[in-house]
Amino acid sequence: MILVTGGAGFIGANFVLDWLAQGTAGSAEAVVNLDKLTYAGNLETLSSLQGNASHVFVQGDIGDSALVSRLLAEHKPRAVVNFAAESHVDRSIHGPEDFVQTNVLGTFRLLESVRGYWNTLPADEKAAFRFLHVSTDEVYGSLSATDPAFTEDNKYEPNSPYSASKAASDHLVRAWHHTYGLPVVTTNCSNNYGPYHFPEKLIPLMIVNALAGKNLPVYGDGMQVRDWLYVKDHCSAIRRVLADGKLGETYNVGGWNEKPNIEIVNTVCALLDELRPKADGKSYREQISYVTDRPGHDRRYAIDARKLERELGWKPAETFDSGIRKTVEWYLANAQWVSNVQSGAYREWVEKQYDAESTEPAGTAKAPA
Ligand SMILES: NC(=O)c1ccc[n+]([C@@H]2O[C@H](COP(=O)([O-])OP(=O)(O)OC[C@H]3O[C@@H](n4cnc5c(N)ncnc54)[C@H](O)[C@@H]3O)[C@@H](O)[C@H]2O)c1
Repeated sequence: MILVTGGAGFIGANFVLDWLAQGTAGSAEAVVNLDKLTYAGNLETLSSLQGNASHVFVQGDIGDSALVSRLLAEHKPRAVVNFAAESHVDRSIHGPEDFVQTNVLGTFRLLESVRGYWNTLPADEKAAFRFLHVSTDEVYGSLSATDPAFTEDNKYEPNSPYSASKAASDHLVRAWHHTYGLPVVTTNCSNNYGPYHFPEKLIPLMIVNALAGKNLPVYGDGMQVRDWLYVKDHCSAIRRVLADGKLGETYNVGGWNEKPNIEIVNTVCALLDELRPKADGKSYREQISYVTDRPGHDRRYAIDARKLERELGWKPAETFDSGIRKTVEWYLANAQWVSNVQSGAYREWVEKQYDAESTEPAGTAKAPA
């Protein structure tokens, strides 16, 4: 079995669902899923696994050494896949401490618990064991319009409290390999999108706000470029790296889909215009509202994923066009998931972040609920 941390969040939950779905067709390998259930963790995403004996959910903190050591001793996983993190850049600007607590201290404690367990394993299991650390392209900093995409050799230049805390965690993982021999691999992925994405992030926020007749807040000039990857392609890359990644190596994961934010928003609006047209015949684009840019907002990220393609034969299955269509369709078909996730706490935060800066769009009819 494997231990997944942060498996009730966006990517972790997609990973667990895909992992267990693959298992039913081939060898079913069980998952112990350790998640603290912060605002970003959502057990409803995993509701289809209720009664599935191959999935054991445990609510807890990766920084709780006693709990993690007990879980490792009890379940004897052959691998740990670490998704657990505070992940939202805007939140890291308002409150960086949680990011240091989980992403730095939590990763450190997790590494120490795992090292203690790994040291008890017989030689063959010790050699086969893997600790896969899931990280981000944001550790590399920002690119100019003409810079080549980030490779694994780019130096780390994190610019936000989020990316700095992720960079620190990557360094700890690397050091635990070089110092203690822990068999680690790290993946650095570009922006993900797809089902079960918490609606504070760009794509789901645009879909949800558009349907609610609200503003579509776009930071600055909307020309910040991100490299987008459909979440299930990220999950398939993690499975490849877990199976055959070289110890101590890092692998960039990306979809060669560089897009300015405003193009993403326009694409979402065009898909909604087609799939859920407004009663008054107007376009959702009319709800776009530019808001003050985020401080220190990185201009461009782009990932060169050729190492992963060359060495492990991984390629994304979705193009941006196919992935974004699936995503919009998923949100339209899962309005209940969205409304359940919109707790009071979530709404307060989004209001604090955006509504103070933007005004209601002129002449916008309320979209269907
Ligand atoms: N979302 C992206 O576009 C993206 C891209 C590249 C890499 N990543 C990385 O992938 C990982 C997962 O990202 P995500 O978008 O799914 O994040 P998310 O915020 O949706 O999920 C994080 C999960 O971790 C859990 N968690 C937080 N602190 C914890 C702790 N101390 N102990 C145990 N669980 C804890 C939360 O409850 C939540 O379920 C993160 O490490 C992130 O840095 C994300």
